[in-house]
Amino acid sequence: MSRVICISSQKGGVGKTTTTVNLSTALALAERSCLVVDFDPQGHATQGLRAIHRCGKETLWQAMTGKTSIREAIVPTSLKFLHLLPSSRELLKAEAALQRMGAKEKRLSTLLSGLRSEYDFILIDTPPALSLLTVNGLVAADSLMIPLQCEFYALMGLRHYLRFVAVLKEHLHQTLQLEGLLLSMLRERVRCHPIVDKIRSGFGENVFRTAIPWDWDILDSAAHGKPLLLQDVRSTSSRLYLELAGEITNGRKRTGSCEDFDFAAAARVTGSGTAREECFSTRV
Ligand SMILES: Nc1ncnc2c1ncn2[C@@H]1O[C@H](COP(=O)(O)OP(=O)(O)OP(=O)(O)O)[C@@H](O)[C@H]1O
Ligand SMILES: [Mg+2]
Repeated sequence: MSRVICISSQKGGVGKTTTTVNLSTALALAERSCLVVDFDPQGHATQGLRAIHRCGKETLWQAMTGKTSIREAIVPTSLKFLHLLPSSRELLKAEAALQRMGAKEKRLSTLLSGLRSEYDFILIDTPPALSLLTVNGLVAADSLMIPLQCEFYALMGLRHYLRFVAVLKEHLHQTLQLEGLLLSMLRERVRCHPIVDKIRSGFGENVFRTAIPWDWDILDSAAHGKPLLLQDVRSTSSRLYLELAGEITNGRKRTGSCEDFDFAAAARVTGSGTAREECFSTRV
């Protein structure tokens, strides 16, 4: 059975898509079969893989509306172990269309259930919004990975997002786990900032050991429609994505809190006044 990971955050531009594209590639290079579900109408994951995926006739949207089967919509890539469910602009209609469908929060979960035996990992890239698409992504997943930039607004946004996930977990998906927080787009000057220590000490094992730096090569690879790992496998960030894949496949040393993560309790302490003051009392 596959592990379905939803890569999500309400905040835009934090590295959700970049993580999806490069982590899935790292897993595929390690010969773990992986399906990327581009569940964002922006279609950035589809674009980020455009140099390596084959074009198909059907899309995820068509599968969602029952016009085709989910299998018909999957396209292969030049990597044997990596497949893609591409997005399209039509997915914009999904928000309204889902409102009219029965079990509107479980549509994606139902579609993916038939594929779970075929992949080791299914990674879902979601839009930067607390929308029905995001809800579907989370309900379809076993766990949630949250890319996080180390900055003031990010911490406040995380508090809000954790509250949202807590409510979703209570009402729609009681077994949703936290896969982990991923420190992403880390700038050189922030690396030793107290906020990094605070996040690591506050969330403990729930933060991946691997952190992804801000790296021009990552930005550049997106412009070429290729995962960085296929552009330059020996680059520092490629190595880090392989390490991140290792953390996921080997199972990080966990305290057990990840498996039954209390999103509501975490929201109460994240970005609270005291934490904010402590984190930002030192200038970066
Ligand atoms: N580590 C990094 N170093 C430099 N640039 C990065 C890094 N990670 C992502 N980027 C760039 O930052 C921008 C935002 O990244 P990305 O699209 O992955 O974020 P996102 O959270 O998926 O955004 P959205 O919320 O719009 O879906 C992109 O141009 C991407 O190429
Ligand atoms: Mg994105």
